[in-house]
Amino acid sequence: MESPSAPAHRGCVSWQGLLLTASLLTLWSLPTTAQLTIESVPPNAAEGEDVLLRVHNLPGNLLLYSWYKGESINSNLQIVSYVPDTQAANFGPASNNRETVYPNGSLLFHNVTLQDTGNYTLHATDKSAKSIQVTGQLHVYHGPDAPTISPSDSHYLRGTNLNLSCQAASNPPAQYSWLINGSSQHLTQELFIPNITSNYSGSYACLAHNSVSGLNKTIIKTITVSEPVGKPSLRASNATVTEHKDAVVLTCLTNDTGISIRWLFENQNLLLTDRMKLSQGNSTLTINPVRREDAGGYQCEVFNLVSSSISDPFRLDVQYDPTLPSPGLSVGAIAGIVIGVLAGVALIAALVYFLYIRKTGGASDQRDLTEHKPSASNNSQGLSDNSPKKMDEITYSSLNFNGQESKKPTHVSPSPTTTETLYSEVKKK
Ligand SMILES: *[C@@H]1O[C@H](CO)[C@@H](O)[C@H](O)[C@H]1NC(C)=O
Ligand SMILES: *[C@@H]1O[C@H](CO)[C@@H](O)[C@H](O)[C@H]1NC(C)=O
Ligand SMILES: *[C@@H]1O[C@H](CO)[C@@H](O)[C@H](O)[C@H]1NC(C)=O
Ligand SMILES: *[C@@H]1O[C@H](CO)[C@@H](O)[C@H](O)[C@H]1NC(C)=O
Repeated sequence: MESPSAPAHRGCVSWQGLLLTASLLTLWSLPTTAQLTIESVPPNAAEGEDVLLRVHNLPGNLLLYSWYKGESINSNLQIVSYVPDTQAANFGPASNNRETVYPNGSLLFHNVTLQDTGNYTLHATDKSAKSIQVTGQLHVYHGPDAPTISPSDSHYLRGTNLNLSCQAASNPPAQYSWLINGSSQHLTQELFIPNITSNYSGSYACLAHNSVSGLNKTIIKTITVSEPVGKPSLRASNATVTEHKDAVVLTCLTNDTGISIRWLFENQNLLLTDRMKLSQGNSTLTINPVRREDAGGYQCEVFNLVSSSISDPFRLDVQYDPTLPSPGLSVGAIAGIVIGVLAGVALIAALVYFLYIRKTGGASDQRDLTEHKPSASNNSQGLSDNSPKKMDEITYSSLNFNGQESKKPTHVSPSPTTTETLYSEVKKK
């Protein structure tokens, strides 16, 4: 202050007098007119920083001062009260243990969060019980946080559209830019490239910039653009093979690389049996030895992450001697079922025949049969229908089933004729 006034002092007396008066006025008026103010240091804080609410022109001779969250004095929102004489600080309900209070009235927030943004009020009382209060602001900006790119897919089919969006939490909202393989900048949040070709494979970097905090965050995504796979073809070592004797090797032929292969049999996923073996990478399927149930249509499907293609079906013909039983368990089971059904049909036919004979005159045999009845009829007393006809039916069928069951374990074709023979034997008794 002295040096600028010194030249004026020598040159012009009247100016010197004016200046002196002015500075004296300033000095004397300072304690009463100087604004009590709060300054945020820094003015715009990024999340995680420390922020000082610096108090300017706090009067001396203070008894107590208190900090509050918000614009008013509310004991529920008190952060701290401080007694300068004893340097005793009492933290209130609005404190989150990240604050430090200084004797000169300033309040330091450690590691600020976005929630710390807002107004803060200082209330001071001097020893003559006069009080003064002032409100200041704290601004916290995020960020930006680490951006994310959506959608999450990284594999695209050539000819499709690439549509990427970048998102980063930021206050104020972030500004976005994209770099493809380190160049060709796009200043948009969304990146749209129609009809992509494989030269669009590579790294896609999204940069989010917060113009207030001046901070940048980047994320990089790798995109692969693939050609659609071509149609594979199937080659077989031989198209016609003989059961139990021959093996067959099916090969899936494709010009594509970086593909996977799966096999289909009769339009379903091929279920591998212990006679089948796939090569490394599934390109060949060996069936050794071939069985009649292996006959049918085979296809292979090649696929990458974005496309797939299926070969034309190859039909495998298996020659076998039809008189030889198939060793397959399921074929045996089917034969058993067929025999059982035939036996059942024969039984019903026999019953119908029997009832018909009985109704139209009755043979002498009939009496013989009903003589077997008493034990069975005692048991069937509870049945709703007690007519003789029904009882005959029950007696007869149970006899027949017992006869058939005893024959079954051999599993060798108990033909319908066997059942009929059995039936006529019973009938003769
Ligand atoms: C008050 O004290 C703190 C801590 O020593 C300091 O950083 C701040 O600048 C001081 N305030 C003023 C207005 O001098
Ligand atoms: C700052 O606060 C965040 C949570 O808000 C916490 O994860 C981080 O550890 C804190 N940093 C320090 C240095 O205390
Ligand atoms: C996509 O690009 C190819 C050449 O790379 C072009 O032949 C084709 O017509 C384009 N398709 C569309 C829909 O623009
Ligand atoms: C890919 O090639 C086309 C021309 O074929 C070109 O216009 C485009 O810029 C290329 N893209 C990249 C990412 O290099």
